Amino acid sequence: MYRCILAGLGGQGLFWLREVRKRNDCEIVAYVEPSSANQQRAIEQHGVPKERLFASLDDALEKVQADFVLDVTPPAVHHVIAEKAFAAGLHVLEEKPLSDNYATAKRVVEQGLKHGCKHMITQNYRFGSFPRTTRRLLAEGKIGKPGQCDIRFYIPWADIPGSHYVTQPYMLINDMMVHHFDMLRYVLGTEPESVQAITWNHPWGWHKGDAAHSIVFFYPDGLIATHVACGCAVGSQTGWNGDWRIEGPKGSIDWDKHQMTYSHLHRVEQPVQEKIEPLEVPPAHQAILDEFFTAIREDRDPECSAADNLKSLAMVFAAIKSAQEGRKVSLKEIG
Ligand SMILES: NC(=O)c1ccc[n+]([C@@H]2O[C@H](COP(=O)([O-])OP(=O)(O)OC[C@H]3O[C@@H](n4cnc5c(N)ncnc54)[C@H](O)[C@@H]3O)[C@@H](O)[C@H]2O)c1
Repeated sequence: MYRCILAGLGGQGLFWLREVRKRNDCEIVAYVEPSSANQQRAIEQHGVPKERLFASLDDALEKVQADFVLDVTPPAVHHVIAEKAFAAGLHVLEEKPLSDNYATAKRVVEQGLKHGCKHMITQNYRFGSFPRTTRRLLAEGKIGKPGQCDIRFYIPWADIPGSHYVTQPYMLINDMMVHHFDMLRYVLGTEPESVQAITWNHPWGWHKGDAAHSIVFFYPDGLIATHVACGCAVGSQTGWNGDWRIEGPKGSIDWDKHQMTYSHLHRVEQPVQEKIEPLEVPPAHQAILDEFFTAIREDRDPECSAADNLKSLAMVFAAIKSAQEGRKVSLKEIG
């Protein structure tokens, strides 16, 4: 039985609480939440036992024995939780983004490695059936070597007044697009070498920081990936994965929120446009917990280890730097 300290009982913390409760190999031995309003909500509406609820991780670590911390605090707090957990010899399963600062992220990853603790980031999007299926099809050569990948994202994202999503700059890229950039790495199986980005905001939007962008990633072999987003979209919506199109010499793979398609239409005797049956995959958050526990048991790096996740985070910070400085930025400048 893996003993968990759940840190952060905001919206996503309560989601994780329900996910952990579905399992029989994990129990929550302590909860950490400094906000009295959120403590009260957790006790009254979510059955969190008062005697197991602490205002700080230090208090919890004094009172309980645990195996890992599930960190669902805001990004600026992640390193505080992780460093305390590592110092106590605990593994850390931590919500994305690893941090709101790249240098801090790097330092905390080194701390985890130094203490020999597992440190995994919950990039749940890549565990979905469309990315899993696409990665496999690309590896099998379905469309040949991809030359272009285009993603579009139109969602009324994070509209809770006063939350860090709304008040802090570049939150759409830092907090949300880290999922898409991580999926790009997973699906395409390759790393970009530079990025050019522009960002802007719309007068009707609710974010203080820029919530719309056009970003181009350049890969060493000529592959180009584009990402266009509006996080204050009030019209039609894509799914949360965004709409994807990957183009290769033998056709394209397309997804929207409903289906995946393979097409090869140009100058072929038999034009093809067919629905792709996606792989059946377990629910993403359960798959993440399975992977984390297996990595602990087998004493190996988990998929989405924090060390690997630095590469997804570097894409975030390189895109932000490019937007701020109005120039193409090499990924090497970040990491
Ligand atoms: N993977 C996903 O799809 C997904 C979805 C939503 C949120 N998230 C991530 O989950 C994290 C939390 O997001 P949220 O929407 O729940 O934010 P939130 O602001 O609603 O909740 C964060 C909670 O952490 C608490 N907190 C602050 N400092 C703390 C500390 N030192 N110790 C313990 N708790 C502390 C806050 O009081 C708050 O209750 C973020 O990193 C966010 O990006 C991920």
